[in-house]
Amino acid sequence: MRGFIDGEYQDGPLRGCTFVAGERGMGKTTLVANLLSVCDGGVMFFDPLARHESLLPGRKLFFQPGPLQEYLRINRERRFKVLYQPRDGDIDEHFRALCLIARAFGRMIFAIDELDMFCGPRWGDRRMPPCFYDLVNYGRHAQVSMIATARYPMSVPRGFTSQCAQMYLFHETEPDHITYFRRYIGSADALSLSALEKYQYLHWNGDGPAQLCGGRR
Ligand SMILES: Nc1ncnc2c1ncn2[C@@H]1O[C@H](COP(=O)(O)OP(=O)(O)OP(=O)(O)O)[C@@H](O)[C@H]1O
Ligand SMILES: [Mg+2]
Repeated sequence: MRGFIDGEYQDGPLRGCTFVAGERGMGKTTLVANLLSVCDGGVMFFDPLARHESLLPGRKLFFQPGPLQEYLRINRERRFKVLYQPRDGDIDEHFRALCLIARAFGRMIFAIDELDMFCGPRWGDRRMPPCFYDLVNYGRHAQVSMIATARYPMSVPRGFTSQCAQMYLFHETEPDHITYFRRYIGSADALSLSALEKYQYLHWNGDGPAQLCGGRR
């Protein structure tokens, strides 16, 4: 299913803002790649570590915003599959450029790996760059939906997580992280995060208890 539904852009399983969290190596980025693989429309994946081309095969690869803009001018509204890897220069600047591009071209899923790298107190009270804040709050008007991963949920501003209609949560043992998620998914589900096996995750969409999914393939 794809389209502007109930005021949000939906493509396959993704709609509005989605958060993927969990300890290192639990399968977060792989899950995002799997979710994006069933999308029918435009997808832009920001890969700050520049190491996920094998996970996202067949993507059009970009390293600079200029050529990406040229490409989207021709391919906007089409089924573009972009992988963006900032290989040199200031990584914050690359991220901000992609936020502006997502807002300007619209109608896409914007996936951000390691979102916590771009957030924090250096951005003041909102803890995120203004162009990302703009996407979180007004991106739906441009039909931009987002999915982001992070290892440290508390390093991602609540301004983002509070807008997430769904979360995919992998194994967590850190008590502060479990306490953090209690407020979103409830105590019982949050406490079960420490019992998840590697590659298992809870899928929470605000509608009843979270679903246990995934596992070793
Ligand atoms: N369901 C699965 N079954 C078996 N192996 C998996 C599964 N999901 C991911 N993997 C493998 O586990 C490794 C880690 O996966 P991935 O990079 O997605 O984890 P991550 O949580 O994003 O890690 P990081 O925190 O380092 O970003 C990869 O080699 C990936 O191929
Ligand atoms: Mg990852």
